[in-house]
Amino acid sequence: MALPSCSFPRLKRGLLLLLCAITTLSCSIILAIWYGMNTDREYIHPMLTQLIPAGHCACQTSTTFECSTCLSCSDTGLRDQSSPAPVWRFDYRLDGRNQALDQMQCQAAFPGLFEDVARGEQYWRSHGALSTEELDTIPIKEGMARAFVSHGNLHVVSARAHGEDHRRKILGVLSSIHRALAGDGGRAVRRDFEFVFSVEDKVEDVTLPDHPVWVFARTPTEEAVWLMPDFSFWAWDNDNNAMGPYDQVVDRVERLDIPWSEKKPQLVWRGKPSFAPKLRRALLEAARDQPWGDVKQVDWAKGTNLLKMEDHCHYMFIAHVEGRSYSASLKYRQACRSVIVAHKLQYIQHHHYLLMSSGPHQNYVEVERDFRDLGEKLDPLVRDTDAARRIANNSVKTFRERYLTPAAEACYWRALFDGYASVWNSSVSSWSENLHYERGLRYESFVLLDSQQMLDFRAETAPHGYT
Ligand SMILES: *[C@@H]1O[C@H](CO)[C@@H](O)[C@H](O)[C@H]1NC(C)=O
Ligand SMILES: *[C@@H]1O[C@H](CO)[C@@H](O)[C@H](O)[C@H]1NC(C)=O
Repeated sequence: MALPSCSFPRLKRGLLLLLCAITTLSCSIILAIWYGMNTDREYIHPMLTQLIPAGHCACQTSTTFECSTCLSCSDTGLRDQSSPAPVWRFDYRLDGRNQALDQMQCQAAFPGLFEDVARGEQYWRSHGALSTEELDTIPIKEGMARAFVSHGNLHVVSARAHGEDHRRKILGVLSSIHRALAGDGGRAVRRDFEFVFSVEDKVEDVTLPDHPVWVFARTPTEEAVWLMPDFSFWAWDNDNNAMGPYDQVVDRVERLDIPWSEKKPQLVWRGKPSFAPKLRRALLEAARDQPWGDVKQVDWAKGTNLLKMEDHCHYMFIAHVEGRSYSASLKYRQACRSVIVAHKLQYIQHHHYLLMSSGPHQNYVEVERDFRDLGEKLDPLVRDTDAARRIANNSVKTFRERYLTPAAEACYWRALFDGYASVWNSSVSSWSENLHYERGLRYESFVLLDSQQMLDFRAETAPHGYT
């Protein structure tokens, strides 16, 4: 009885102290991590950088997109066939803006561009075809829309946006689809299909990975989704950015036309570390105090370190880092005749299959996700800028002047329509027999709605057909 009464309080006090110490320690660690992830300061201690979890990019695995069927076959491909008929050849100046190339021309001009459509087709062929019932199980969350193509016309069934950014992206997607349809000579006899798309950064933001949703980017394990060209081909215009359509940015870059000899032999990057702290801090660290490093964090509020998209072209090397998921800015960097330096990517966009990190067609430089080999990869290229120039030339030839042209974008959309429609196993009716209403609002009418009406749109409740 005596023993516990005298030693217990001491024990309790000791325990309490220990608990207190542990709590303080964990609180400090949590605070430090929080600070590391959210600050945009230029320097934070490397130990803190180590502490930062991979954050938004949660998994450490990475994928590379080596696709042997893609680039190298463009040398041989159709031309090798000993047919006497003259083979049509894509010419950037003549055809780059032609959004009405036919299917044969698309195939001849852009080998390797349709990889992900073929993959999606194969996936759904082996997982049962797609149907209206299947789409009915997909909740339309904010950032998503459901639409169908019937007799070559686009109809919007429903669309939900959290705000302006979503609304504009949804409108950009619908407009791109409309444009690709308009350039289709066989439009009126095209197969009908219905689909759901999301403009969110990640599949998991809005839906499940086994739904056949059209998205801007996917991870390698998200096999059921279909890749579509992102909103910025139509235009990247929101409150923070007013860049216009992608091909207009290309116009600006081409007008600048900076000679290679006048470019700085340095690696440029500007951005907010807090968007993807682990990746972006690693880049800041790897480039710090290097003669070839010009890597800085921007402060939008104060306007420090801002650099216009086309001014990145003043540098021989441009770093590319993923953000919350994919980064739509890769294509702007590829508009410059410069060498893109990217870490191994986790998110696949439709044109990523054309990235080549080695060989005679090398069109970018790939480094590890922690940038530990950045110096090792850059040093030889800074010394031998001719080798760098060859990569920059390949990048322009492959991306700016071929796979990122409006012609390629339209071809991809139509290949997506065809591929998706080939595994679509339902009829698409534009009229609901049961409910007696038009199931979708034509795109032409949808674009004329008030912004407010687009935010939470359902064709079944939208009054139309009245005078
Ligand atoms: C297509 O739908 C029909 C009728 O609903 C069904 O019998 C058939 O199995 C479906 N085909 C595929 C490939 O799922
Ligand atoms: C890169 O392209 C330019 C013209 O566009 C050409 O003059 C130059 O020789 C090329 N350089 C290399 C190394 O391929």
